[in-house]
Amino acid sequence: MDLAALVRRLPKAELHLHLEGTLEPDLKLALAQRNGIDIGQSTVEEVRATYQFDSLASFLAVYYPAMEVLQTEQDFYDLAMAYLRRAVADGVRRAEMFFDPQAHTSRGVPFSTVIEGYSRAVAEANLAGVDGQPISAALIMCFLRDHSAESAAETLTAAIPYQDRILGVGLDSDERDQPPAKFAETFAKARELGFKLTMHCDIDQPGSIDNIRQVLEMIKVDRIDHGTNIVEDAALVELVRDRGLGLTCCPISNSFVTDDMKATEIVDLLGRGVRVCLNSDDPAYFGGYVADNYLALAQQADLGPEEMAQLARKSIEASWLGDAEKAALL
Ligand code: HPA
Ligand code: ZN
Repeated sequence: MDLAALVRRLPKAELHLHLEGTLEPDLKLALAQRNGIDIGQSTVEEVRATYQFDSLASFLAVYYPAMEVLQTEQDFYDLAMAYLRRAVADGVRRAEMFFDPQAHTSRGVPFSTVIEGYSRAVAEANLAGVDGQPISAALIMCFLRDHSAESAAETLTAAIPYQDRILGVGLDSDERDQPPAKFAETFAKARELGFKLTMHCDIDQPGSIDNIRQVLEMIKVDRIDHGTNIVEDAALVELVRDRGLGLTCCPISNSFVTDDMKATEIVDLLGRGVRVCLNSDDPAYFGGYVADNYLALAQQADLGPEEMAQLARKSIEASWLGDAEKAALL
């Protein structure tokens, strides 16, 4: 069997996936038409040509405006279902998916519209599988770190009535000058309410290592998104390993926003016993779903079937499934 077929068959978890980052050009066009929005492009090629960036900031400048086509509960449902279909084709058996409510509420879409649409797709997938494949799915609500701490607190309050549909909270968007400490209170409250906690520590941002220290020592996250800059500090690597924290790495995304897949760091951390796993981040924008990320890393770092299987196992270990559910997938 070739490596691509083997990778797609490995049972795996995807833990760093932004639902809004799965907006493929064809769905964007269909939603624009359904909602009567003129997005300025009329073909897949024209939309794809707008998906151009070379840094986190330039990516986000394309990413947020593109969301204008998401208006109704059905739009959010369709977006999530399209991703889940793509995920099961890649062997994903567990998907813990980010969404950004403030990117929608800030343009007038009610919180309830967003969560009802996404959670309907999640409930259906959990009940009946997707395309005949079993999958378990969950939602992680991210706060936008370049919005105010008050806005994050309000968003958490808005989520309380829907808490049974949201497994955890995260932090994303532009990291520059937006340290984790800014959100310490909201994350402490989320912890008290029973949410799992994770935060983006983006690759090679100014202050990356200080931010990683904050998420570990002050916020006490249950996982770190990206976070490969921990290689700069052996004590942090030990801490992450000893706490069994997952590090959700995204090789293809890394290569877009920093020109470096960070393959050396990922393989190094795997060798040191850290629960690193591979993910697609924003696959519609970066042009690769989760299996493509495994294969890109394999090619870059000359890895074979054994390392692919090891990374797939790590993804399940790093998930927030219970022990029995993990054991069933391992
Ligand atoms: N980092 C920060 N914000 C994001 C990302 C990311 O990887 N993807 C989508 N929003
Ligand atoms: Zn991300």
